[in-house]
Amino acid sequence: MNAKTLTVLVAAALALQQGCSSEETPPAPTSSVAGAQSYEKTCTLCHGKDGEGYAADNATALRSPTFLATATDEFLARSISRGRPGTTMSSWGKARGGPYDDAAITGIVAHLRTWQTGPSVTLGSAPIAGDPTRGAATYATACASCHGATGSEGPNVRLANAELLDVASDEFLRYAIVNGRPGTAMRGYGAELSADQIADVVSLLRSWAKPVAPGSVPVPGTLGPIVQNPDGPEPAFEVGKRFTPVDVVKAELDRGAAMGFLDARAPSDYVAEHIAGAASVPFYEAGDYLFALPKDKWLIAYCGCPHAASGALVNALLANGFTKVTILDEGFDVWRERGYPVRSGPNP
Ligand code: HEC
Ligand code: HEC
Repeated sequence: MNAKTLTVLVAAALALQQGCSSEETPPAPTSSVAGAQSYEKTCTLCHGKDGEGYAADNATALRSPTFLATATDEFLARSISRGRPGTTMSSWGKARGGPYDDAAITGIVAHLRTWQTGPSVTLGSAPIAGDPTRGAATYATACASCHGATGSEGPNVRLANAELLDVASDEFLRYAIVNGRPGTAMRGYGAELSADQIADVVSLLRSWAKPVAPGSVPVPGTLGPIVQNPDGPEPAFEVGKRFTPVDVVKAELDRGAAMGFLDARAPSDYVAEHIAGAASVPFYEAGDYLFALPKDKWLIAYCGCPHAASGALVNALLANGFTKVTILDEGFDVWRERGYPVRSGPNP
């Protein structure tokens, strides 16, 4: 019997055992109930329990009525699965190294839809013709303070983000600018700016579009050795001190002190880039990793937020009897900006 025949026989036996024919597929867990559980586990940290936003890191108000009215299911699913690279909004889809398959993401979208109170608005798909040069002048005075001079600096939604501009049509952008996002700092500009001025700004945003990264990325593999310099001296960190500055951590590492880095972000962020030698321990799965982590060596949790995900991970460790834990104070971005060692890919 070859391997293929065996597989077919096993499948048939399993189908018999379950009392169904192999043609029937089990119902996919797409319900908003499963989606609510996923949301609670991985999204509340930043977007808030009820999608009110701003729980951490300027994450947007997902329950905003104008947002839900104009964001299609595809917009939501794509935004969740591919994230907004370069921001703390991770890629949550499996193809990008995240935890969720398409069915799980459909469930999360269904959960977000439970917050929608008004009808959806159908937007046209025709491009909006404006003058990006004139738009740049309006943008600099009216928008740059919140969205950044080039649309990438924040503190609010990075409008120049390739993934956003790939899913957001010109009409989606115009609708947001005209009507704002009630209940947030984004007011409507429909009365303040003329239709031409708004078309010019939309053209400017469109001029920022770039091709999105194709393909999928690998998921982090095994944890690897958690502790670097395992035989080195104990680092001079203080027990009970929640935050430790990057320069202090780096100096101790250079001294050969024993410590391990825990990357608290979604695995997709880890694969994109992480502190050299770090282990991927996503904040929302901390419990699954406790058995593999040492209690007698120092562990430094970090994220890009710079404290939300690492804070959640450290809280889980403290609650489970770990004491030698601290948060990398300024977070991953500052570590990288300093030129300290980072690595890409699924391995430490
Ligand atoms: C670590 C914080 C963080 C977590 C966790 C997080 N997000 Fe986000 N999310 C953000 C930020 C920040 C943005 C805005 C990105 C930007 O600046 O452009 C965002 C943007 C979004 C957007 C696009 C909103 C818009 O107005 O275009 C959606 C949809 C979204 N997140 C859904 C989710 C879902 C669903 C989850 C859980 C699976 C999740 N997010 C987890 C921080 C987070
Ligand atoms: C006072 C700060 C502030 C100013 C000024 C501002 N925005 Fe916003 N903008 C925000 C915030 C905050 C959000 C996200 C709201 C939310 O949580 O849903 C946003 C959202 C948006 C969105 C929707 C993005 C998405 O993915 O849903 C667009 C488009 C936008 N702004 C364009 C503009 C333009 C163009 C201007 C200037 C005419 C402007 N904004 C001025 C704060 C601001």
